[in-house]
Amino acid sequence: MRLEDKVTIITGAGGGMGRTAARMFAAEGARVVCVDVTEEMADSAAADVIGAGGQATAVAADVSRDDQAKRMVEHAVATYGRIDVLYNNAGIMPAADHSVTDTDVETWDKVMAVNVRGVYLGCKYAIPKMLEQESGSIINIASFVAILGCSVPQDAYTASKGAVLALTKSLAVQFAPRGVRTNSISPGPIETPMLMDWLVKDEEAKQLRLARNPTGRFGKPEEIVLAAIYLASDESRWTNGANLVIDGGITVNYF
Ligand SMILES: NC(=O)c1ccc[n+]([C@@H]2O[C@H](COP(=O)([O-])OP(=O)(O)OC[C@H]3O[C@@H](n4cnc5c(N)ncnc54)[C@H](O)[C@@H]3O)[C@@H](O)[C@H]2O)c1
Repeated sequence: MRLEDKVTIITGAGGGMGRTAARMFAAEGARVVCVDVTEEMADSAAADVIGAGGQATAVAADVSRDDQAKRMVEHAVATYGRIDVLYNNAGIMPAADHSVTDTDVETWDKVMAVNVRGVYLGCKYAIPKMLEQESGSIINIASFVAILGCSVPQDAYTASKGAVLALTKSLAVQFAPRGVRTNSISPGPIETPMLMDWLVKDEEAKQLRLARNPTGRFGKPEEIVLAAIYLASDESRWTNGANLVIDGGITVNYF
């Protein structure tokens, strides 16, 4: 198995890609710490894994909260004794996020708190343990929107994912000499509740996005998680500071 016994914290494990990641990582032998905002979501993700014969534990934590992010990491260490992978997947994309000219400050701050501060806090508490072990892999989920302009903007979300890309590079340079690699994945539009709950109400927005993608379809959660398995595994031992853009080709499409 590609992730035999690797202790992996997955944030947002109750959602679309996080839940798929928990299941697929466990199937590759990982011991998974399922994190989500509510106990119900974290527990149900862990129950899915255990039901499929994998190893998992659950912890309810809001990744944007200092004390809760610390508790999430402490829970992983108390349960399994180490942290091999921190998979910063939790994120939000609120409907009230538009252009800078009409996005309110509360929405802006909330997006930054979850999507950027959440990644910072996870890293803040997990990296010292990884440095002690002299090994670890951090996987940060950004987005294709971090590397493209968009005429139907979600500026807080876009800026937050740009910050994730920049932070990933800084961590990659700082900690690789001590055995801790950091990489990001920038998914294109993926069929998860985050995107589908929104597009189901707006057929025009859906068709606009499909028309831009050379593959003519949205991605599936497992198509992103396969890249994360690579980054978590020792197969990627010389991959550091990379941003894997997995988007069906949307970002290389001129017309
Ligand atoms: N779906 C897409 O098209 C797409 C594209 C590019 C990037 N992404 C990114 O991929 C990641 C996963 O997104 P998804 O599509 O699976 O979304 P999703 O909404 O299905 O799942 C996100 C999960 O994160 C959890 N979460 C939200 N705030 C949290 C917090 N403060 N603390 C802990 N958990 C929290 C939610 O409860 C949910 O379970 C996100 O970072 C998202 O920005 C998604």
